[in-house]
Amino acid sequence: MIRSKIAGIGMYVPENVVTNQDLTRLMETSDEWIQERTGIQERRYADRKNETTTTMAVEAAKVALERAGISAQEVDFIVFATLSPDYYFPGCGVLVQRALKMKEIGALDVRNQCSGFVYAISVADQFIRSGMYKNILVIGSEKHSFGLDFSTRGRNVSVIFGDGAGAVVLQATEEDGRGILSTHLHSDGESAEMLAMYNPGTHANHWTPASLADFDEVEIGQMFMSHAMIDKNQLYPYMDGPSVFKKAVVKFPEVIIEALNKNGLQPSDLDLLIPHQANLRISQFVAHALKLREDQVYNNIQKYGNTTAASVPIALCEAWEKGLVKNGDLVCLAAFGSGFTWASALLRW
Ligand code: UT7
Repeated sequence: MIRSKIAGIGMYVPENVVTNQDLTRLMETSDEWIQERTGIQERRYADRKNETTTTMAVEAAKVALERAGISAQEVDFIVFATLSPDYYFPGCGVLVQRALKMKEIGALDVRNQCSGFVYAISVADQFIRSGMYKNILVIGSEKHSFGLDFSTRGRNVSVIFGDGAGAVVLQATEEDGRGILSTHLHSDGESAEMLAMYNPGTHANHWTPASLADFDEVEIGQMFMSHAMIDKNQLYPYMDGPSVFKKAVVKFPEVIIEALNKNGLQPSDLDLLIPHQANLRISQFVAHALKLREDQVYNNIQKYGNTTAASVPIALCEAWEKGLVKNGDLVCLAAFGSGFTWASALLRW
């Protein structure tokens, strides 16, 4: 039976470290508040001019390719997850194809925010299982720092997010028992606006929060993006943090259990859980709900903040580099975020 395995993994984070203390110069916040509510101590911000979502992705991809022992020309397909693409369109996949001088292969962008990488892994896994492709480059990369509200008004969102990229080479294998065992994808669009960036977009204003109530003032043709949106500060992400938190601590354990049940396994069988790094408190809730030991869960949000689609591959890469993921280990990747969407992937390393 053909399965897919992670043949190589890489990550890239910018050099520029931004501490909680640094943020206190821009907004009313404190190191104490940020650490207590999120666990974050510092995050990385990309160089404004020279680093983009794609350039970081390319660096992570080069490491993943080298570790997989294949060249960029041997890749059959690219799946790229991000919510902060270099351009509104085209997506970042084609920019990676160009930067790495790859063949004229397919490049697909996935827009599933925090669960984007796990969705991307699932998509790539299907292509490999079907026999269509042998080597797929799967990437999660984000440059959040370009578009956050660093005034006090935006502090509940801006202190959380950081920049970075992670990439894996997913490869066909027939080795018995190894590779991705199953993936599980979910969504509930009922709360789509609870964690969203509304603009630029083609939405009408029937559901929008008060911040978009002046839609009528905008001329036809300016609806997509207008000066009014800039003046009214409507070009930043919106998050109802407490509501997202409450849903996350339910859906994370649910989708992990779903993956374990599907394979006749239990939480105690897990060698390592790599949860999306949304908030250290969420990871701790999940660990508690599943009765996992501390050494069964890997967290690094303390150093990088929440890097959305990049958080799972960055955490997995770092855990692997530290020797915490060994051949034969049972590893679960899990994520929850905007949409809402949530997902898991269970794999035997
Ligand atoms: O990865 C995508 C998925 N996202 C998540 O999973 C995020 C889930 N949500 C969260 O992690 C938490 O809700 C946050 C960390 C975003 C916020 O923590 P919270 O404990 O839910 O705080 P809150 O939004 O209820 O705000 C509590 C207070 C408010 O002040 P008042 O109204 O009580 O006076 C906020 O204005 O904390 C204030 N506040 C801050 N104070 C200092 C909000 N942000 C900050 C800040 N610094 N950065």
